[in-house]
Amino acid sequence: MTETGRIVCISGGSAGIGAGLVAGFLEAGDRVYTFGRDAEKLARLADRWPEPVASGRLKTLVGDVTDAEFRARLIAMIASESGRLDVLVNNAGVILASGDLEESVEAWRATLEINLIAPFALIQSGADLLERSPAPVVINLSSACADHPFATCTSTSYSASKAGLDMLTRRLALALAPRGIRVNGVAPGVVASEMWGGAMDLMVETVRRRHVLKQEAVTPEDVAAAVLFLASSGARLVTGAILNVDAGYRLG
Ligand SMILES: NC(=O)c1ccc[n+]([C@@H]2O[C@H](COP(=O)([O-])OP(=O)(O)OC[C@H]3O[C@@H](n4cnc5c(N)ncnc54)[C@H](OP(=O)(O)O)[C@@H]3O)[C@@H](O)[C@H]2O)c1
Repeated sequence: MTETGRIVCISGGSAGIGAGLVAGFLEAGDRVYTFGRDAEKLARLADRWPEPVASGRLKTLVGDVTDAEFRARLIAMIASESGRLDVLVNNAGVILASGDLEESVEAWRATLEINLIAPFALIQSGADLLERSPAPVVINLSSACADHPFATCTSTSYSASKAGLDMLTRRLALALAPRGIRVNGVAPGVVASEMWGGAMDLMVETVRRRHVLKQEAVTPEDVAAAVLFLASSGARLVTGAILNVDAGYRLG
């Protein structure tokens, strides 16, 4: 298999980093399935890619990654249309609270459901389809907040969900190695996206303080370059790795 024409599934490709990942794989000549909850955001994504939409190389679906029925329908659709899955990117993720003891248990549950349990469930549903690929790979979107209690990471539930995701990455890399499926993570620093919501001042300050290499935000294109590398044959022996794309966030 050349590194084009791959069958790729990206959760949350309608905005931010996910939209950058969709662009990266489409530009590489791959076929991309992506989804999110908001139909308008997906329509805006589709408007950017008229040719891939018309040719069926970009498929957008309205769906929630936490919905088991939707996940089953998605995997069944990829199986019937494409017959295999080469790349699964667990990108959809949220920050629903900030603080420590002040975060509600409901926010904790919802955060873990979207950021940790749903990626596991999507890998579980897609594993047989991935196994039909000659070079299958799963890539999970982690965060610089996953492995250190930095004060600039303001949500305890979010940091804990990403720490859990990193262990999920390593555990499943081990478990799926006999089936030839690689499992890796990419951990960005600060990316200017809707995720920061009304906290733009904090975002700018975090970039200034923690991005020690260059005081600039990581872009979706920077993240896509790392994901495309991990999906490539150049990374054929890379599994269980978490690749930091964080301008040195963890170093300072
Ligand atoms: N931005 C950063 O600084 C940063 C840093 C490190 C890591 N990350 C990680 O990178 C990933 C993408 O973040 P981002 O900054 O691009 O966020 P974003 O701009 O808020 O985009 C999130 C995407 O995920 C979708 N999504 C959210 N919840 C979903 C659900 N339950 N089901 C299906 N789709 C869902 C959203 O669409 P709908 O809302 O329409 O569903 C949207 O397409 C996340 O895992 C995040 O934790 C971000």
